[in-house]
Amino acid sequence: MFISFEGVDGSGKTSQIQYAAAALRAEGYDVLLTREPGGTPVGDEIRAVLFDSKNSQDIHPHTELLLFCASRAQLVAEVIRPHLAKGGIVISDRFADSTLVYQGYGRGLALDALRHIIDFATGGLWPDLTIFLDITPEEALERRRRASLFGDEFNRLDDMALEFHRRVYRGYETLIAAEPQRWHRISATGTQEEVKASVLEVLRQALVVKRASHE
Ligand code: TMP
Repeated sequence: MFISFEGVDGSGKTSQIQYAAAALRAEGYDVLLTREPGGTPVGDEIRAVLFDSKNSQDIHPHTELLLFCASRAQLVAEVIRPHLAKGGIVISDRFADSTLVYQGYGRGLALDALRHIIDFATGGLWPDLTIFLDITPEEALERRRRASLFGDEFNRLDDMALEFHRRVYRGYETLIAAEPQRWHRISATGTQEEVKASVLEVLRQALVVKRASHE
């Protein structure tokens, strides 16, 4: 079973994924945890290029798109497909939906072109289940402000990016409405324990359904 987690920046996704993977492993499942961009040696190098601040002004949106998809092509071929083929569970911190919402709805690249490029990169692989950790960009920003983990400069940058993240959030809402059977929307505004419990409930239910469909 292939599961992805999605959400706007600051949704708390990464910690929730760690909890979920640990809980499923404790129940005996063979869980492989990965993330995008990255997850392979080649992908991690691509990630470094994408997030190197000295590239952030120069990188063309098309180049950015192709780098995300190049990292994904490697991840699918080297890690995801082999693990699924041996009957394991793959949990990915972001997958192709991130490209649709960030590069498509966020940056304004044509969605049809994105879908073709994504399909070329993945060979048409999509997650069986996608968990959307639901927090609006405004709530995520407020949470970061309250946590005061970053200096004023970081918060100013966040403010500038707010309109972009609003488009990303609306993009997620559109994708969820178009494919409600794949997406599970979980509020990320509760305590970590509450979110953790909701995530596990959805995962366990999906695994039961998957197992029944194989029997
Ligand atoms: P994260 O590792 O903290 O989730 O950050 C990854 C960032 O990269 C996040 O801002 C979303 C962005 N991203 C894209 O713009 N397109 C993509 O295809 C992926 C996977 C991530």
